[in-house]
Order: sequence, then C-alpha cells, then structure tokens
Amino acid sequence: MSAAQFNKPVRKAVFPVAGLGTRFLPATKAIPKELLPIVDRPLIQYAVDEAREAGIEEFIFVTGRGKTAIVEHFDTAFELEATMTGRGKSLDPLEPTRILPGNLVTVRQQVPLGLGHAIWCARAIVGDEPFAIFLPDELMHGSPGCMAQMVEAYNEVGGNLISVLEVPHEDVSSYGVIDPGAANGALTEVKGLVEKPKVEDAPSNLIVSGRYILQPEVMRLLENQSKGAGGEIQLTDSMARMIGTQPFHAVTFAGRRFDCGSKLGFVEATLALALEREDMGAEVRELASRMLAG
Ligand code: UTP
Repeated sequence: MSAAQFNKPVRKAVFPVAGLGTRFLPATKAIPKELLPIVDRPLIQYAVDEAREAGIEEFIFVTGRGKTAIVEHFDTAFELEATMTGRGKSLDPLEPTRILPGNLVTVRQQVPLGLGHAIWCARAIVGDEPFAIFLPDELMHGSPGCMAQMVEAYNEVGGNLISVLEVPHEDVSSYGVIDPGAANGALTEVKGLVEKPKVEDAPSNLIVSGRYILQPEVMRLLENQSKGAGGEIQLTDSMARMIGTQPFHAVTFAGRRFDCGSKLGFVEATLALALEREDMGAEVRELASRMLAG
C-alpha cells in the first residue's frame, strides 16, 4: 500500500448543502443555512475562499429544494457592482477572486438521506480523482486555512485525510470519532472510525470536523452503504471501510473551528470574527463589555 498510488493532485471539492438545517428553524424555512451570515459574509463564502486558497479549481455544490440562492451568490451581480463602483466603493471589500466561468457545477440531492448520500450524488462529476469535501456550516478560521494545511499533509502522505479536533469526552456522541494510531506532529494515523458512538464505546475524544480529502474509491463504497446512525447514509461508515486498503490520516487543524450548524457555535463565530475585524473590532469589544457589565 504505497502512498504513491494515491497522490494525484486535489483539484475538485464537493460542498454538500442539501441538508434541511432544522436546528436553525424558523430562519431556515426560506433561507438556506449556508447563506446565514457571520458578520457580513455568508457561511458558504468562507468555505469557498478556504477552498480557493488550497488550490481547488472545480466547485461542486450538492443542492436540494430551496437552495438555489447559494449558487446565485457566486454570480456576477452587475447592478450591485455598477452601483457600488459609481459610489466609489466595492461590493466586497475583501475582493475574493470569483469562481471561474464553468468551474461551478451543481448536482441535486432530491431527498436529504444523509451526508454520505449527498457526497455520492456528486460521483459523476468527481470521476476518478481524489476530491476535497467542505461542510460549510463548520467555519474553520486560521491562516493558512484548514484545507491548505490538509493539502500540504496530503502532498506528503497521500491517500485519505480528515481534519480532527479534540472535544470533552462526554460530547463525542454527536460526532464521528477516530480510533487514533501513531502520531507525528499534526498528523495522526487513523485505525478506525465510528459515527456517533456511545460515550463508553468511543475510541477517543478526537472528532471528525467538516473537512476531508478522499480517494474516489469511497464513491463505490457509498453506493452500497446501508443506513447508519440516525437512519442516514453516513460518510463515516464508508470511510471506515477504506481503512487498511489505503493510507488514512487525520490532521489536527492549527486554528479555530466554529460549529455554525448549532446556535451557540454560530453566535460564538459571529462574536469572534467581529472582534477581529479592523473596521469594527474595537466598537464590538466596547459594546460587549458594556452589555456584560450592565
Ligand atoms: P447536518 O448534519 O448539519 O444537517 O449536515 P443539516 O440538515 O444541515 O442541519 P440540521 O442538523 O437539520 O440542523 C452537515 C452538512 O451536510 C449537508 C448539510 O447541508 C450540511 O452542510 N447534508 C446533510 C446534505 O447535503 N444532505 C443531507 O442529506 C444531509
């Protein structure tokens, strides 16, 4: 099992955005969770910017009913740009490079049967190449970005990589958990994976966190994957079946992760990023201190 077999460059990324976002109802009745803003940028834009920084060229969105606005966010908004230019301003002061024409592809997940099923829906576009996965509701904050760090690790070890982070042991049951092997700096060998284990059965407190680099063989495993935890087709279960057949490592991200799929994580991210902003950080700090003192 040499890494050389599994080290083609990672050019494509899948963004599963077809989930129902029930934890954010009623906000997500008509607005996709992925368009909720942290300060003034929608969650999906943070993920796409992170992908571009890591060298991703092709962006595959797995969408569902009511999610079209996510794709429209990456269109050129001519009237807005003309208006802002006329005012001597810019539509986005951070000026992200746009996704090149033809490089944004959408596929549909007609029924949200789970993350594993969403990824499988992208199989024809992914083809026979390794690919990255971004769960946009997990905001990875740091420089270099999480995926850039993972691509760097991938260039060394090849195969499959997932980002992991440590949580208190009593919290593991909400997540995919790894059985860790040998560690070398930020890189840990993955010996096993289990989705939402009972606390007493969890092999560690290292949870899978929203970023993956996988080999295309996972698509064939997803094809026959039976339902797992929560009655959903779980990506974790198919990844677990690849361990032992291909290299599999975890990368501990040197940065901060906010779980913006939960209300508390969303508020935390909003506050943390607002406090760091040059244009408003000082005022937010003063405002927060006043509120806490009062
Ligand atoms: P979540 O587990 O956060 O589910 O999905 P959700 O539906 O978005 O939100 P809640 O739990 O009901 O509040 C993680 C990621 O996988 C996508 C989601 O859009 C999200 O980016 N997903 C999940 C799909 O694309 N399809 C699915 O069937 C399930």
